Amino acid sequence: MIGKLNHVAIAVPDLDKAVAVYRDALGANVSAATDEPDHGVTVVFVELENTKIELLHPLGDNSPIQPFLDKNPSGGMHHVCYEVPDIMVARDRMQAEGARVLGDGNPKIGAHGKPVLFLHPKDFCGTLVELEQA
Ligand code: CO
Repeated sequence: MIGKLNHVAIAVPDLDKAVAVYRDALGANVSAATDEPDHGVTVVFVELENTKIELLHPLGDNSPIQPFLDKNPSGGMHHVCYEVPDIMVARDRMQAEGARVLGDGNPKIGAHGKPVLFLHPKDFCGTLVELEQA
């Protein structure tokens, strides 16, 4: 069911430092920082040939990534995002498999303007999984 890896998201405590690591040390193409108030994050996209890395930094007081950074003060891999052809078909299949879909179980519009769902890390090898309709 899952297709391409759309992105890997890394939560970072210091966005400028993270940009310097990816742009200067690793030599990647790095976007300008974009505030996404609806998602409580500031995002920098690292464009790779075959996928993207998203550097996530908390925005506002109730950022969903703040608890993760509290537990992982130097940052870390926050989630992986896989593309699916149909988000509702994917949701129904995940629920039929007994996997926990986070939130109210309905897709939300994600950072790329496409419908997304998040799946509980305990059901997916300890990794938060985002499904995005391609
Ligand atoms: Co994501």
